[in-house]
Amino acid sequence: MTAKPYAAIAGVGHYAPEKVLTNADLEKMVETSDEWIRTRTGIRERRIAAPDETTSAMGLAAARMALANAGLAPENVEAIYVATCTPDMIFPSTACLIQAALGAKRAYGFDLSSACAGFLMALDAASASIEAGRIRNALVIGTEKLSAVTDWTSRNTCVLFGDGAGAAVLKASDRPGIRSSLLGVDGNQADFLSIPAGGCKQPASAETVQNHLHTIHMAGRETFKIAVNTMLVAAQEAIARAGLTVADVDLMVPHQANMRIVEAVAKRLGEGVMDKVFLNLDRYGNTSAASIPLALSEAFAAGKIKSGDKILMVAFGGGLSWGGSVVEWL
Ligand SMILES: CC(C)(COP(=O)(O)OP(=O)(O)OC[C@H]1O[C@@H](n2cnc3c(N)ncnc32)[C@H](O)[C@@H]1OP(=O)(O)O)[C@@H](O)C(=O)NCCC(=O)NCCS
Repeated sequence: MTAKPYAAIAGVGHYAPEKVLTNADLEKMVETSDEWIRTRTGIRERRIAAPDETTSAMGLAAARMALANAGLAPENVEAIYVATCTPDMIFPSTACLIQAALGAKRAYGFDLSSACAGFLMALDAASASIEAGRIRNALVIGTEKLSAVTDWTSRNTCVLFGDGAGAAVLKASDRPGIRSSLLGVDGNQADFLSIPAGGCKQPASAETVQNHLHTIHMAGRETFKIAVNTMLVAAQEAIARAGLTVADVDLMVPHQANMRIVEAVAKRLGEGVMDKVFLNLDRYGNTSAASIPLALSEAFAAGKIKSGDKILMVAFGGGLSWGGSVVEWL
């Protein structure tokens, strides 16, 4: 009997649109200040996709980089998992659009909707299929055009979000790369973070548009508290399931929503953990499902990841939903 395969990350990639929207730019759009945004969130600027630049186009760019990085030809990709809450359309899935543009002729694919925790959900699903022996590789993409669902008249939310994409290639391996994965949801607090209209409950109408119901609605203060507590437990559990301790973690790549959330989680995890955190939220804001793979790929490109490193990823977002995962870089 052949041994069961493990799954490991074999390459990463990312893409960010060219247009930068600074806090100073936002000062001209809503009643806010650079100082307020920086001190409450840590965000200085975010990227905004061009009108014709779609979620699939950004995901495609990140996927191409990840495939080149992994040395995998598009025609050999077996599965495409796209985590997004801003698909180009309700259907066909963003995965289908990326599959066609890549020329990934042998791949199946689908979209997975779990807001900011989406990438870790997709990573878990893809690695489980690899570990079960059904596929030997998968492209896992997190891509978002949140600017398309942002209420640009609401200072409560418009300062927080941005656009971008990140991707990882997973391959079967004889050593465990994905060392642990922990996922969770709590739909009892679904109203804390949502886009109320556009689904079957409130189909698009003149009224839903007028009431800005196709944009992100958020209870900021409530979300903040739950995010800190939940991310902390998810991180601790992911580390324990990997058979490691906090001291074994070489790099932490958290969901990049808010500097204060990240600092609070890192501080509670233990002394010195904040020094191991990779941050790019100052330049991108919260890019939801794209946030972790975008940060992971930038960390790799910046030479901050070497073979043998144990990387802790942890996410929290709408659903509510969350995830934690420890990955060993092989
Ligand atoms: C949104 C968030 C930054 C707000 O920070 P906060 O310290 O909780 O601020 P509050 O919501 O208590 O608002 C404080 C005041 O600032 C005001 N305010 C809100 N947004 C503002 C802005 N962009 N500029 C200036 N003032 C603003 C509020 O109206 C409020 O004024 P009031 O006291 O007169 O009512 C914070 O709650 C947060 O980060 N929450 C989590 C959000 C998140 O990351 N969600 C995604 C998770 S994946």
